[in-house]
Amino acid sequence: MPTDTPAYTPSAVIGSDLARIDGPLKTTGTAQYAADFHFPGMVHAVPVTSTVAAGTVRSIDDSQARKMPGVLAILHHDNLYRGEAPPLFRLAPGGHGGRTSESRPPLEDKTVRYWGQYVALVVAETYEQALAAAAAVQVAYDPAPFNVSTQLDDPQTEQLPLRTESKRGDVEAAFASAPVKVDQTYITPAETHNPMEMHATVAVWSAPNFTLYETSQGVVNHQHVMAETLGVPRENIQVITRFLGSGFGGKLFPWPHSALAAAAARQLNRPVKLSVNRKQMFQTVGHRPRTQQRIKLGATAGGKLVSLHQDYRNHTNFGDDIRENCGEATPFLYSTPNLLVTSALVRRNVGTPTPMRGPGAVPGLFALESAMDELAIALKMDPVALRIENDTLIDESQNKPFSSRHYKECLELGAAKFGWAKRNSAIGSMRKPGDSDVILGWGMAGASWGAFRGACQASVALLSDGTARVSCGTQDVGTGTYTVFAQVVSDRTGIPVDRVRVVLGDSSLVPGPTSGGSTATATVLPAIADATDNAMKIAISTAVSALNSPFHSKPADSLAFSEGRIHIKTQPAATGVPFAQILTQAQVQAANGEGTSVGIGADPKARNYSTHSFGAQFVEIEWDPGIARLRVNRVVSVIDGGRIINRKTAANQILGAVVMGVGMGLLEETLYTPRTGQPLNSNFADYLVATHADSPQIEVHFLDHPDPILGEYGARGIGEIGLAGVAPAIASAVYHATGIRVRTLPIKIEDLLSANVSA
Ligand code: MOS
Repeated sequence: MPTDTPAYTPSAVIGSDLARIDGPLKTTGTAQYAADFHFPGMVHAVPVTSTVAAGTVRSIDDSQARKMPGVLAILHHDNLYRGEAPPLFRLAPGGHGGRTSESRPPLEDKTVRYWGQYVALVVAETYEQALAAAAAVQVAYDPAPFNVSTQLDDPQTEQLPLRTESKRGDVEAAFASAPVKVDQTYITPAETHNPMEMHATVAVWSAPNFTLYETSQGVVNHQHVMAETLGVPRENIQVITRFLGSGFGGKLFPWPHSALAAAAARQLNRPVKLSVNRKQMFQTVGHRPRTQQRIKLGATAGGKLVSLHQDYRNHTNFGDDIRENCGEATPFLYSTPNLLVTSALVRRNVGTPTPMRGPGAVPGLFALESAMDELAIALKMDPVALRIENDTLIDESQNKPFSSRHYKECLELGAAKFGWAKRNSAIGSMRKPGDSDVILGWGMAGASWGAFRGACQASVALLSDGTARVSCGTQDVGTGTYTVFAQVVSDRTGIPVDRVRVVLGDSSLVPGPTSGGSTATATVLPAIADATDNAMKIAISTAVSALNSPFHSKPADSLAFSEGRIHIKTQPAATGVPFAQILTQAQVQAANGEGTSVGIGADPKARNYSTHSFGAQFVEIEWDPGIARLRVNRVVSVIDGGRIINRKTAANQILGAVVMGVGMGLLEETLYTPRTGQPLNSNFADYLVATHADSPQIEVHFLDHPDPILGEYGARGIGEIGLAGVAPAIASAVYHATGIRVRTLPIKIEDLLSANVSA
């Protein structure tokens, strides 16, 4: 691991358990989410969605709907694309337009590729009028055969070519000669993102400018995509997302409703609101695709991996090639001389899949870590010991050391905190204390997720009223971004956090990153640090140049800025002058600093390292065979995510992710009915997410080892890794309790009814 980077020792505000600074705004209802924006003359748009899963729109009869009260416009392919210039454009392939979700603009053609695709948009004075008129639009289809089969290896299905993702050695030969083998197939279902806040756009057109109030995890990317889609220069589009009620990846890239709302606003010259309802969220704003993964492991009798072969496929739709990167963690998590990861896409008549919390790695680790658990059983070896036996500090897929890898410590600390040493490995052998009817299962799994720093900018102003302002064109998806940014400014300046104002969620600010891939913190922190340092330098220059300053004409490098004061470097801060006083006396309103982060790809030192976070999940489940009741009882989650900037918001991320992991393990599954291709359980009654009643007792531990390659603060990111490893640890615990290995998620009590153990 790198040792050449001098360690930065931050003040106590870094790593504190400060509550979210935006919390009061949210709990008092003051925070404005996208759909909360209202403007004079605003009208409402409701989409008409396809009731077939494949085919073409033969005709649209909107004559009844047009006569209904309040109806202003009904847009569909025939009237929208009739003009000389199309209202919506495609992104140029390979261009720099940004990343979109669906590659085609909505209503571009009459082809229907999935149930629920937009076929028309009704705009009316009120939401109720638009809803009623949308129901009155008569759409006739020429339906075509469709395919929503869950059999991803069905030979009847067109499959895109096999792709090699990672390769070393010779897996076939090594597997053939391995004394101990596992060869199994694991399946994860389509899952739908269900953030509390549904997607919405409020589009305001004031020629030649658009202002789009959005539910976006990336305001700058959204601006870029909409500029190309709407055919206007970037500077004519402002995207605003002040607050998000989460996104889980579903809001990373623009979806068709945003372009439709904007096109309607321009056409009608009225502000337009389009809210995607819960049912539509199962159709047109992405999902985690179904995956099917075959894992072949070969090991020596002593438990050394000699071969690891993962072959996976995932479904995608008929418009986009979306690969769920299930091999994300496979090439480097364990040491093995022979490895092969291959993948293929399988088309289905479903909406376009999109990243969902820990895309690729999370379903990938369900397969890999379940297979490791099966290997441990075949070896009669403890599953923690098996992982430690195959630990490595070198990323063998890239032949590079990890910047900071403490996977073994995660496993050991997790085992200690959980009480793993007390585990009796015999199936069904452990009982709930005080209730001998209930069998306990103890299982575990490892976790990993990538770490990355992108390029971005930030601005910091130190103001003459003694406060500071930090701004960046990124957004807070709900994770605590506002709060950690304030902490960094406070850390460097000594200005208390409650005097630091954070401004985010506006594409007109200096460009910041998408809130995705657990990369926003590592990406923006160096830019904020740089901007803050530059602002402090300006404040010091002001102290030197102002005639009435006590530091007038002193060499700038003899002065320091700390504890909110400018002072002689060799003397304590208390002997200095508050910066506000210096600025006020100099009649300067603000000391402004700009800062940048250099992307990890452009950082020569970083190129020598493989950067990832690691973790371990330990799970206790309860299985009551008398009443077929299965519940996750207790989880210990240990995370090696670099330095933790805020213990409270970081722990919140892991707690939430573990709850989501219970959903992934036991509940979540989007069902497309083979009768029509419709996502059938498109509501909160039928699509089950984990609730409070399903939530286990959760203990979170952070190792808190700074990762110097990610930046001075050494923070990686903790938004996604908490979900990794939870589902396979549940499957491992279920096996321990019941003797039944469930390889298809979610694990259902029906899977366990044949269990051969009773209490
Ligand atoms: Mo996350 S799937 O990068 O929002």
